[in-house]
Amino acid sequence: MVPRSSLIAAGRPMTSQSDPDFPASFLWGASTSSYQIEGAAREDGRGPSIWDTRCLMKDRVANGDTGDVACDHYHRYPEDIALMTRLGLKAYRFSVAWPRLLPEGRGQANEKGLDFYDRLIDGLLEAGIEPWLCLYHWDLPQALDDRGGWTVRDSAGWFADYAALAASRYGDRVKRWATFNEFGVFTMFGYAIDWGAPGITDRQAHLQAIHHVNLAHGDGVAVLRSLVRGASIGAVHNVQLVVPESETPENRAAAALLDEHWNLAFPEPQLRGHYPPLTAEAIAPYVQAGDMARIRQPLDWFGLNHYGPIFAKADPAMTWGYAWGAAPPDMPSTDIGWTIHPDAFRDTLTMLTRRYGLPIYVTENGCGGKDAPGPDGKVADPGRVAFLDAYVRSMQEAMAQGADVRGYFVWSLLDNFEWGAGYGNRFGIVYVDFATQRRIPKSSADWFAALVRAGRLP
Ligand code: FCB
Repeated sequence: MVPRSSLIAAGRPMTSQSDPDFPASFLWGASTSSYQIEGAAREDGRGPSIWDTRCLMKDRVANGDTGDVACDHYHRYPEDIALMTRLGLKAYRFSVAWPRLLPEGRGQANEKGLDFYDRLIDGLLEAGIEPWLCLYHWDLPQALDDRGGWTVRDSAGWFADYAALAASRYGDRVKRWATFNEFGVFTMFGYAIDWGAPGITDRQAHLQAIHHVNLAHGDGVAVLRSLVRGASIGAVHNVQLVVPESETPENRAAAALLDEHWNLAFPEPQLRGHYPPLTAEAIAPYVQAGDMARIRQPLDWFGLNHYGPIFAKADPAMTWGYAWGAAPPDMPSTDIGWTIHPDAFRDTLTMLTRRYGLPIYVTENGCGGKDAPGPDGKVADPGRVAFLDAYVRSMQEAMAQGADVRGYFVWSLLDNFEWGAGYGNRFGIVYVDFATQRRIPKSSADWFAALVRAGRLP
């Protein structure tokens, strides 16, 4: 958490005059996730996930949108790999849908689901694109949620068994593994604030979910380490500045707790062996002897997902007394209202290098918009180009200041199902016409391809 007063010069133009080249080894890629792009929700034996369930609930997802078809990537993945080739991407981060591999979450594996990722991985390798496999991007099998999901301690074992299945099937070809995507986001929105699946709002459930997901991560890392020869293992964390909406003692307290739940409750135990102070006290009843050692496993890299700063305010009606506050009116924002603050990105990168000392891969960064094709059929997105340019420049500044950044994955390759916002918020550098499934690279895709090709800002 930072005091609001230190959040200065928001969105000012970058001062760096020179654009040095990125190292040749710098890894440029794009990220997606299973539920957001695959579709084929009831095909080839896939079981339902908690997001399928949420999409059927009233008023949880804009326009009643669902991930049933999404980008139809399940069928169109060869076309999507061809797009990546055209962009010159060196790496692709995707997630595996747990309910596609294990329709009931545990027990009998689904061969057709396993086959799909075989085809995808083989296609990527043939195209010379390194697969980065993330095991969990929020689509918990519904059958496991029916047993209590992340609130029950057994969930760590369920996850470890699923990790073992994926590792033994794909570990011969996939070397880059991530356990979870954005621990802080899906546990908060799933168990404290009703913005994600399963949509519980309960302090105890939230604390249990935090601790059991940490255990699942630790057990998952141990399994990957033992089953995948030459594995390079990390986890993907959301880390963003949390700022009080205004400097009152109540808002400051709200921001401090939100900051712990959002930014610290996972990397701190995973990498430093303890919970942050406010969380440590509350979570103690769920922590058993040996747990902290189980959670803290050696890792090879830190995955950072970063967007803009968050403003927090006190709200006694909420589960933990914190809520999302408003950004200052003069703070730049994207077309969908997310804050823009490239300097905060730079400072987050340098802070993470100092604090955790691991090589960093930026596993998500990007800009949501309301893009649409022009009369010429092209999709111009100058706002996204400006956003990406400013953020990549800030990353370069951070590297010049000593941040150990090894790669950058743009969110996202394709417009996709953006959770509660449905298909209305477009994050792709490639436009998707959801009626026809036609893909149209936006001007940001050309810009990104030029960056990747030259290894310097266009
Ligand atoms: C992140 C999620 C990703 C996407 C982007 C916009 O929080 O990891 O799935 O929704 O935000």
